[in-house]
Amino acid sequence: MTPANSGNSLTVTDNRTGKTYEVPVENGAFKTMDFRQIKESDDDFGLLGYDPGFLNTASCKSNITFIDGDRGILRYRGYPIEQLAEHSTFLETAYLLIKGELPDQERLSQWTFNIRHHTMTHSNLVKFMDGFRYDAHPMGILVGTVGALSTFYPDAKDIGNIDSRKLQIRRLIGKIPTLAAMSFRHSMGFPYVQPDNDLSFAGNFLSMMFRMTELRYTPNPVLERALDVLFILHADHEQNCSTNAVRAVGSSGVDPYTAVAAGCAALYGPKHGGANEAVIRMLMEIGSVDKVPEFIQSVKAGSGRLMGFGHRVYKNYDPRAKIIKKIAFEVFEETGRSPLLDIALELERIALEDDYFISRKLYPNVDFYSGLIYQAMGFPMDMFPVLFAIGRIPGWLSQWSEHVKDGDQKIARPRQIYLGEAERDWVAVDSRPRNRVEEQLHDTCRL
Ligand code: CMC
Repeated sequence: MTPANSGNSLTVTDNRTGKTYEVPVENGAFKTMDFRQIKESDDDFGLLGYDPGFLNTASCKSNITFIDGDRGILRYRGYPIEQLAEHSTFLETAYLLIKGELPDQERLSQWTFNIRHHTMTHSNLVKFMDGFRYDAHPMGILVGTVGALSTFYPDAKDIGNIDSRKLQIRRLIGKIPTLAAMSFRHSMGFPYVQPDNDLSFAGNFLSMMFRMTELRYTPNPVLERALDVLFILHADHEQNCSTNAVRAVGSSGVDPYTAVAAGCAALYGPKHGGANEAVIRMLMEIGSVDKVPEFIQSVKAGSGRLMGFGHRVYKNYDPRAKIIKKIAFEVFEETGRSPLLDIALELERIALEDDYFISRKLYPNVDFYSGLIYQAMGFPMDMFPVLFAIGRIPGWLSQWSEHVKDGDQKIARPRQIYLGEAERDWVAVDSRPRNRVEEQLHDTCRL
């Protein structure tokens, strides 16, 4: 029996043994390690928590991002996402996430200078980039080249050194847009464009993406601001799949380039960074507004999902989706209205009135309108997860930094529940019976 503050604890009775235990509760959580003492017998390992996908397991304490999914609230360091999207810039928001406070003017200018002076890449990276096949997916290129940065900056291994951490953070925020744009230009066969440090963060990225023969690229201010806000909206989302990957890989003590490459790899997956592309494909498949009711019926009948709807955490309108919807109209004022927008609006209208979606608390998420905006700006669909990665960099880095400094953290190493064979003796190859289970598996694969 563990002594605990009885007012803030659980009393747990193990019905297998009749024993009772007291387990402390702190910050609305108990430590699963406190359950290890609960055993059926002395040689029992102790009780484990089983939670695939971490549906109800906190892996860290964090001061960075707050989400209340039921009320549709998202805050970075306490500031509501709506206020940041309205008044802040991406670089200022990155400062906030990483340092914990909004900067004063002097600090903001210094921070902006520091990031801008890390936008160029080592020229050997060009050779690296050129090694990819002409049709390589830009996200695959990003995963590879971000990982390769660790070989250019061996000083990054010194993760216990705050000055080194600061330097790598500036380098990563500065260089990711350059690598991202290079990956696009490589896939198009266009020459690479050097950074223009007189432009804003988003403006410089647009220049590196789209500048052709003009001597200087002048970004459209509406599109430049829209992209900056989209980066703000993607900047952090607490312990999502890619952030968890950054923390888990970082927990081995590896340098931040390698940890962030793991984050990019996680973001490459269609369930994470690829949903906005799936929305565009869905809208193109529907084809016209009059087909929307039929499509909704097919979703309700179970033949697929309404992409860009639903969220593991938000059981209300995703606050980012509201802001993005407004931006979509501003962008279409400049670029001309996409016919897919009308299909999206009709889908949303019908779904929000339909009991299937209402009863399951399915609302538009961040991906429902973002792909339409990216498409209108001229980004190919392959670039959508890359854009997500540019926005998410400060989140990954602030979470990585917090992890490195957190004395509670250990190398990420979950337990498993072993359900395989018990011990058995090795059998000589001639004496092995044909394994029936394996035969069945092969048959299934052939079908
Ligand atoms: N369309 C139709 N039905 C849905 C949808 C949807 N988009 N999402 C969930 N459902 C239904 C699902 O069929 C289930 O119904 P039932 O109870 O009858 O079986 C119920 O709602 C609960 O679904 P779930 O799969 O248990 O919910 P989840 O929390 O595991 O899934 C999700 C969350 C985002 C994976 C899911 O809503 C989904 O697949 N959405 C479409 C893909 C998408 O837009 N993904 C982007 C998410 S936002 C990215 C980010 O924040 O980084």
